[in-house]
Amino acid sequence: MRHVYVNGDFLPETEARVSIFDRGFLFADGVYEVTLVLDGKLVDFSGHMARLRRSLGELDMRFSLTEESLLAIHRELIERNEIGEGLVYLQVTRGAADRDFIFPQESTPNTVVLFTQKKAIVDSALAARGQHVVTLDDLRWRRCDIKTVQLLYPSMAKMQAKAQGADDAWLVKDGFITEGSSNNAYIVTTDGTIVTRDLSADILHGITREAVLHCASDLQLRIEERPFTVEEIENAAEAFSTSASGLVNPVVNINGKPIGVGKPGAITAHLRQIYVERSRASAI
Ligand code: PDD
Repeated sequence: MRHVYVNGDFLPETEARVSIFDRGFLFADGVYEVTLVLDGKLVDFSGHMARLRRSLGELDMRFSLTEESLLAIHRELIERNEIGEGLVYLQVTRGAADRDFIFPQESTPNTVVLFTQKKAIVDSALAARGQHVVTLDDLRWRRCDIKTVQLLYPSMAKMQAKAQGADDAWLVKDGFITEGSSNNAYIVTTDGTIVTRDLSADILHGITREAVLHCASDLQLRIEERPFTVEEIENAAEAFSTSASGLVNPVVNINGKPIGVGKPGAITAHLRQIYVERSRASAI
């Protein structure tokens, strides 16, 4: 039985309870983080906590737990659930209050929930095969830089991709790719340049994105942070996505057309390998 964390208690998952008045449930008034676990250790923990603080700040959501105590909770869950490889999910909402669009009183306690997912992440069949993606209109709100729990459209986009026989959707706004449904999106041009959309409110500022761009720059690869079109993907040598759950994940087909030779590319594979090595070495 999995053990989870709810508002100060570690409990078997069947005993964990959250109010039906929780604003996360009624208004999607909450933020989250997903942190990768390799060898029982947390990858880029402080990056995830910095982004959590930023998300909370953008929503004027008060939150009193320190990074130190959050680290202790993450570690306790990893240990109790014997997570060698997988993910830790953390969610903070504005808490439970009678339904009102106006935020509740400052004194209303947050709801804080964490749970683990045990999963083979490095050794992935999808990464070996390469993802097929389809493009869909980006119909999300205009603050995609805040990691809120309002994930209905990304979920619908993934379902539409699945219905078309693909693995994921890449979202398009004004003719340019923003990002994947739950990952950042990249192409590698035929001259070996890595192109990914620049940071703005249009995309989530991926923690993996930052680490992978560091790897690319250390490998002396050229990087262009700018929007790119579907046509550029069709003419690219390689494509990939990044996220805590997918690492560096090759994309080999878009809207039914192969990208490059239609197989995971060499630069993508190299970046995945270096990213995993560095993550193992720096995990805490
Ligand atoms: N998703 N873009 C979006 C829209 C995301 O939801 C995510 C993460 C990313 C990548 O961010 P990071 O590299 O920090 O994981 C980009 C997580 C994994 C999820 O919702 O499960």
